[in-house]
Amino acid sequence: MKKVLGLVTSHRKLGNSELLVKEIMSNIPEECSREIIRLTDLKLESCKACYRCLQPEKNCPIEDDFNYVLSKIKEADALIIGVPVYLLGPHGYYKMLTDRLLGAENYAKYTENKPCVIVIPYGTKGWEGYSKAAVMVMPRILKMKIVDCWQVHATLPGDSLLKSDNLKYAQSLGLGLFNGYEYKSGTRECSYCGSDLLRLLAGNKVECPICGAQGTLKYDNIPDFTDAEYYRFSNKEMEEHFKVWLTEMKKRFLTERDKLKEVQKGYKDKDWWIKP
Ligand SMILES: Cc1cc2nc3c(=O)[nH]c(=O)nc-3n(C[C@H](O)[C@H](O)[C@H](O)COP(=O)(O)O)c2cc1C
Repeated sequence: MKKVLGLVTSHRKLGNSELLVKEIMSNIPEECSREIIRLTDLKLESCKACYRCLQPEKNCPIEDDFNYVLSKIKEADALIIGVPVYLLGPHGYYKMLTDRLLGAENYAKYTENKPCVIVIPYGTKGWEGYSKAAVMVMPRILKMKIVDCWQVHATLPGDSLLKSDNLKYAQSLGLGLFNGYEYKSGTRECSYCGSDLLRLLAGNKVECPICGAQGTLKYDNIPDFTDAEYYRFSNKEMEEHFKVWLTEMKKRFLTERDKLKEVQKGYKDKDWWIKP
């Protein structure tokens, strides 16, 4: 039997993220088990930059709820993410979780190609900010198949499902979850990763800040990515960054530790830290 995991990153009980995730999960036609984690109910500390998770099968040593969340994500056959826009980006706790996934290359063998639906409620039209591009980072580094990344205008708790079109759309996402659909980028989005933010470069070029693909602006500023040579989330680049480059950095740290300590020494006694 398939396992479907909902990941709600909102403290608001019966809020839009929760309702949308539940509506999608309710409409999955396949026989499946359903579990939902409310991320904001769990304890997540910030990454301590120990790099232990770069080693295969090594758990994060921080004693909080991260390893539990990760084990649930790994064992799920599909992930339904609900995360609201807070101050133009995704809710901060979602970023906390994303930051803990430096070992993604070790986890992706469990999550690769599994379907992931993202719903992002936001309260004010035009205030979506960088949320869409940012939310997609987590499923991308886990090499999941993004079925959809849906930004839903909804201010008050429940607003999202007052509109019958939204209700129908959420239902269709549940119905099609395991049908092999994959998110198709819009004409003004990065055609590799779906980011709706693009960095302007010289010579009519644009770069996707999320996946690094470069394209050329064509008629009416529509980007064309057909000649892109680099895509950060390809298997090759992911391995190069998360396995080779980061492991090299660990080695460089060991060989240059004394030199680095020398630089740090001058700042050690500037003990100006305060705490409440
Ligand atoms: C602290 C805070 C910041 C918010 N910032 C934004 C924002 O920048 N842009 C926006 O469109 N909505 C913003 N909202 C509105 C929420 O995104 C919106 O109400 C959403 O439906 C909440 O989802 P939820 O019910 O799942 O919590 C903010 C809400 C809160 C509480």
